[in-house]
Amino acid sequence: MKEELKKMREEALSRLKNAGSLDELEELRVGYLGKKGKMTAILREMGKLPAEERPVMGQLANQVRADIESCLGEVKKDLEEKAMEKRLEEETIDVTIPGKKVNLGHRHPMYIALDQVKEIFVGMGFDIIDGPEIELAEYNFDRLNAPEGHPSRDWSDTFYFDTDSRVMLRSQTSPMQVHAMETRKPPIRVVAPGRVYRKDEVDATHSPMFHQIEGLVIDKGITMADLKGTLNTVVESLYGKGTKTRFRPHHFPFTEPSCELDVQCHECGGVGCRVCKGEGWIELLGAGMVHPRVLEMSGIDPEVYSGWAFGIGLERMAMRRFNITDMRLIFENNIRFLEQF
Ligand code: DAH
Repeated sequence: MKEELKKMREEALSRLKNAGSLDELEELRVGYLGKKGKMTAILREMGKLPAEERPVMGQLANQVRADIESCLGEVKKDLEEKAMEKRLEEETIDVTIPGKKVNLGHRHPMYIALDQVKEIFVGMGFDIIDGPEIELAEYNFDRLNAPEGHPSRDWSDTFYFDTDSRVMLRSQTSPMQVHAMETRKPPIRVVAPGRVYRKDEVDATHSPMFHQIEGLVIDKGITMADLKGTLNTVVESLYGKGTKTRFRPHHFPFTEPSCELDVQCHECGGVGCRVCKGEGWIELLGAGMVHPRVLEMSGIDPEVYSGWAFGIGLERMAMRRFNITDMRLIFENNIRFLEQF
């Protein structure tokens, strides 16, 4: 039995040392020291020994078990270290390999201009609102006081969805005035930027889809002086302090009186040049005092409230701001063009 134990120890230690994996090691442990292992089998035989030999055998058996266990521990540690080393090697990141270049997007010049306008109006207490591009002619025309037969309602100018000209792509952001009056109570101060659509051929200054920013103020005691004061402040924020403006009479169905606002040419200072086409002034926006009928149609009493509105074409504004000479560049999204701004 003594020999058997010693032989088992030699065999166990040598097999343990050759174990190639933690799984194999565990298998060996169970085979030698487990409940149904070789050690248990040998110890079971001990009962057959004479009583005086048992303590010696017991001691030897304990020694063999301890030797196997300590060898197990060492080999296990070794295998674990090797596994870790292998993993680290596999997961090594070579920080010297050149990275893949990620192409970041670029802010579009028109949105740079829009954000600037928004910021100015938000600073003056206006809300930014958004609304439908598929619009009812009722909102785009009727409730803006554009009567049946008004030239802008013509099929040749407007994209209609139906044959009785009720549903259309909005041709201006002005219907947002009606939406604002419908959903808000005075005092109203809103700015509504968005896309508009007209049957225009594409050229250097036209596109069938373009952007406008609508503005609307309604309160008690609002006058043309408020319109001029506010818009002059906006122009100075956009083009610099002291920029001269000119308000020219004009006609829009939904405002009375109506005007267009020109900014003195920044290039020539009003003398006339290529940029202003010899005029000395550059048209910036349309505006006016909200027509009493427009207020009335949206349930606001024109005897109590008055207001003013404006509309700016955003592409033209960005083109002027960044000296872009062809509107098509705004829509082509060529990264080499966009990255200049
Ligand atoms: N909707 C007009 C257009 O598309 C622009 C405009 C003019 C808007 C005067 C207004 C305004 O709110 O008061 O030409």
